[in-house]
Amino acid sequence: MAKKKTYFVCQSCGYNSIKWLGRCPECGEWNSFVEETRFPSLSTSTASASPLPLSDVSLSEGERFTTTIGELDRVLGGGVVPGSVVLIGGDPGVGKSTLLLQAMSGILKAAEGEGLYVSAEESQSQVKLRAQRLGIDSEHILILSETSLEAILNHMENIKPRLVVIDSIQTIYSEELASAPGTVGQVRECSARLMQKAKILNIPTFIIGHVTKEGALAGPRVLEHIVDTVLYFEGERTMSFRILRAVKNRFGSTNEIGIFEMTDTGLMEIDNPSEMFLRERDNTASGSVVTTTVEGTRPIIVEIQALVSPTTFGMPRRTSIGVDTQRVNLLIAVLEKIGGLQLGLSDIYLNVVGGLRIVEPAVDLPVILSIASSLREVPVEHDIVTFGEVGLSGEIRPVSQAEARLKEAEKIGFKAAIIPEANRQRMKINTSLKIIGVTNIHEALEVIFSLKS
Ligand code: TYD
Ligand code: MG
Repeated sequence: MAKKKTYFVCQSCGYNSIKWLGRCPECGEWNSFVEETRFPSLSTSTASASPLPLSDVSLSEGERFTTTIGELDRVLGGGVVPGSVVLIGGDPGVGKSTLLLQAMSGILKAAEGEGLYVSAEESQSQVKLRAQRLGIDSEHILILSETSLEAILNHMENIKPRLVVIDSIQTIYSEELASAPGTVGQVRECSARLMQKAKILNIPTFIIGHVTKEGALAGPRVLEHIVDTVLYFEGERTMSFRILRAVKNRFGSTNEIGIFEMTDTGLMEIDNPSEMFLRERDNTASGSVVTTTVEGTRPIIVEIQALVSPTTFGMPRRTSIGVDTQRVNLLIAVLEKIGGLQLGLSDIYLNVVGGLRIVEPAVDLPVILSIASSLREVPVEHDIVTFGEVGLSGEIRPVSQAEARLKEAEKIGFKAAIIPEANRQRMKINTSLKIIGVTNIHEALEVIFSLKS
């Protein structure tokens, strides 16, 4: 029997230490060290790939195969690369299992072979229930309810499936480690061994990982380094739309996103997110402003709503959903000091419709205009879009990809756009939109309210 080694691992970042530490020297987390016992891995050296002359190495790029889910293919960089290991992270309930079951079914419709779906969390019949709901029934999808890594690797070896899904990495464990499933040591060991097997057998492997309360994949930064591609599946549980985002991709760009809607019968691809976000818009309400935000490389039209109402308690409340609250506070300060609006005795609520989160500064101008519109109770013309970054002295700065934003607005049927003057001057496209360039928030406010009269 190999000699047992004991060491301590930080559960937050994976840092190793031979003694217990109160605070991690790597990530600064307190009380995060857990003892792990590890037997030196016996299996790792038995099978390995042999070196090849560079001139003989084939490009596996050409062999990508489709999942038949366009949005997923795009985020992967144009389909699945054989032997690649893809980590899909997301909150519980966001739809990770659903997405991968649909992807597996799609892949097996387009290609020969069998898929191995390892369900370490749910029983075979639970997976069957989900499959029924999705209208998936195939003899080529093999469901394995198993938590032992060694058993899973054996099945991979024997079946040589077309692809493997591990649902989820936090619930499987290696018998060679004494620590519990879900600990950093286990997660890292299991992923590394799966990765190794996937490369040797050339089987693409999707690994599902849960996200902790803090928003990181549990045991995670370690994991992100190991795998080829890391995708995050995001969305509010109560909202139907979901965004699949690449945060790392050895085989493609991390700029792409996929947009889905969770329906009664599974995830549907959304080709036209702008229409979805504007679906139930009230054209006559004050405080509503439409903007084009860019997610990855895709312009999406969304509505920003503000509600400004008199404060009933001493302290005015400022609540923002979908735009960073700090950013909104900064913009409110600019509106007061530079724009001369009286907001000190008002509660301000801001919301991005549909549950989208916008992090880019191009949302500044729409935020400012929606607050002004609600304060004055004057609705903004419904067929105007606007975007622009606002500086601390009230100046409006240009944003990236202005032309793509304008094209999208034109496509959806908007008539005019209020944009940074600098963007207007650099514009090279012809558009049917009436383009109004503004250099500071005074001009923007004037434009928006004079268009009404
Ligand atoms: P699931 O894929 O189990 O999420 P995860 O694996 O990320 O934890 O799906 C979770 C939710 O999606 C669940 O609350 C039910 C809902 N759902 C639908 O709305 N429609 C469907 O067709 C399916 C399969 C699930
Ligand atoms: Mg699941």
